[in-house]
Amino acid sequence: MQKVAIITGASKGIGLEIATQLQLDGYLVYGTSRNVSDHSQLSLKLLALEVGSDESVAELVRQVLDEVGRIDVLINNAGYDVYGSAEGTSMEELHAQMDVNFYGAVRMARAVLPTMKRQKSGNIINISSIGGLLSLPFNSAYAASKFAMEGYFEAMRYEVRPFGVYVSLVEPQGVKTDTLDSSIQSIAHEVADHADQLSRMITRMRADGKSSGLSPKVVTQTVRRILSVRQPRLRYPVGGLATFMPTMKSLMPQKLFERFISSMFMK
Ligand SMILES: NC(=O)c1ccc[n+]([C@@H]2O[C@H](COP(=O)([O-])OP(=O)(O)OC[C@H]3O[C@@H](n4cnc5c(N)ncnc54)[C@H](OP(=O)(O)O)[C@@H]3O)[C@@H](O)[C@H]2O)c1
Repeated sequence: MQKVAIITGASKGIGLEIATQLQLDGYLVYGTSRNVSDHSQLSLKLLALEVGSDESVAELVRQVLDEVGRIDVLINNAGYDVYGSAEGTSMEELHAQMDVNFYGAVRMARAVLPTMKRQKSGNIINISSIGGLLSLPFNSAYAASKFAMEGYFEAMRYEVRPFGVYVSLVEPQGVKTDTLDSSIQSIAHEVADHADQLSRMITRMRADGKSSGLSPKVVTQTVRRILSVRQPRLRYPVGGLATFMPTMKSLMPQKLFERFISSMFMK
């Protein structure tokens, strides 16, 4: 029986890489985009989805179930990364970041769970981030969305495992995608105290991503590893930094770790 995978945000970046590979691996893949017609050149089945909308999520899942009647894998990948000081980030910008990165993943998981539980099998794989394990300055909204994802899905894992459904979190360090410039977004109005720091931070994150970011293929290999084992783990850091930095955070005295992060990012 051909397994069915839904991958949110498969029009570009990490999601496109995962979707393309899973299709090669024999999965029936449903990728999603907010603007399906912009991506007609892709040899991928793309369905319309706005993860911020309950109705859009319900419609997507209904369409897949009408066509094939089952869902084996959900990959919650849709997301973006907003940069700005905690003070300068407006409540609208914070809500929007949470609504896509966190509530979007929650909406999707809740929509597929009844099917996976009925099947007594399924994988829910969330593309979290190193930013879900430690916070960097000028990235509070993104960190909040990914920390929320980590906490929520850790709890869900216990609840659904007795039904044969496995929840995992993939935590990549910076990834070099063609769309790095657009996936890193700046808040609209930074407060004067932080304007220069924010612009240096964004320039730095884009440059670091391009020079030392991981290939999206490495994230894809992790997803394949999860899907190849019977009982996948909860957490999968991806890249040396994603293991090293959280370990430093837990082992170093707090003051020392703070000094280390400040010296790197608060110049
Ligand atoms: N790149 C990195 O360094 C990195 C590192 C760690 C974790 N991550 C995580 O990996 C995931 C993918 O990142 P990426 O770098 O590949 O980003 P990307 O290249 O900008 O792609 C983002 C995807 O998400 C979709 N999307 C965005 N907002 C959406 C919404 N409201 N509703 C539905 N779909 C939406 C986009 O689809 P359309 O625009 O076609 O609708 C697009 O396909 C994100 O969750 C990100 O936090 C990235």
